[in-house]
Amino acid sequence: MRQRSISAALICLALLGSANGEEKLSMSDADRKMYAELLESNPAEMDVAEGEQLFGELIGTTEYAKMLGVKEKELPKYIAGFPRYIEPAKKVVTLAQSVQMAAAYAGKPVPKLESKEMVKMSAYVKSLANGQKTNIDVEANAHMKEMMTLGQQVFEERRGGRGLSCNNCHSKEIVGRRLRMQQLPDLGAKETAAAGTWPAYRMTKSQMVTLDKRMQQCMKNALMAEIPLGSREIVALEVYVTNKTKGNPINIPSVKR
Ligand code: HEC
Repeated sequence: MRQRSISAALICLALLGSANGEEKLSMSDADRKMYAELLESNPAEMDVAEGEQLFGELIGTTEYAKMLGVKEKELPKYIAGFPRYIEPAKKVVTLAQSVQMAAAYAGKPVPKLESKEMVKMSAYVKSLANGQKTNIDVEANAHMKEMMTLGQQVFEERRGGRGLSCNNCHSKEIVGRRLRMQQLPDLGAKETAAAGTWPAYRMTKSQMVTLDKRMQQCMKNALMAEIPLGSREIVALEVYVTNKTKGNPINIPSVKR
């Protein structure tokens, strides 16, 4: 009996060992080392600092809060709820689009969503909510409900050369399987926490990347036509993906593979 339990334990150990060995596949030792170093000194911190300066010159938190119709001290909690419906836009917008609105309100030139300046500014504005829990409310109003439904549709729609949907790679059922050497992440998992961790520094791109851009990179890899930034569909996708990890803390900028 004793003999058997020892061999069972050995088998367990062997299985654990191979599981760990497999884990390593998703990142080489060199990549792992780089990841640890980047966590120590994240190059995107500089971008966020620049974003603060750019945002201060263009709008400032006082004007931004005014445009949104909230008190300045309530900004962190409010920011943690994007994408959300905002009255001045009369639609559901991302944080970056709310910065565009604020620029327009202040009579300033409106930065393009894909511009470096916008990536930096939106990262800075989101970092104001660091430590807050993501609190998107997809039941808040008819607009949000509609976007949540659309987001799920887009997420599950098979498109492109391989007839893949986001769900094909990111559903709970297939998580842990891998694509080439990469682990397929469950977008609803705490560790991934897509909602609270973008904009992030992407090691493989050597730059800070926003969540919508990250989703476009997946579309490109999967041979799907890229849904344009700022479109209803991509905002809806962001609503859907953000809602998956609602409640997870915001930590900007993080480091991703
Ligand atoms: C062919 C498989 C595949 C498809 C299809 C796919 N993805 Fe991905 N996605 C991946 C892999 C693999 C990663 C992680 C890669 C890495 O380790 O950097 C990833 C990462 C992500 C992340 C970042 C997760 C994090 O760490 O925060 C998001 C967000 C994401 N995908 C969204 C989408 C969306 C939205 C779609 C549909 C438009 C989509 N993906 C389609 C394979 C896929």
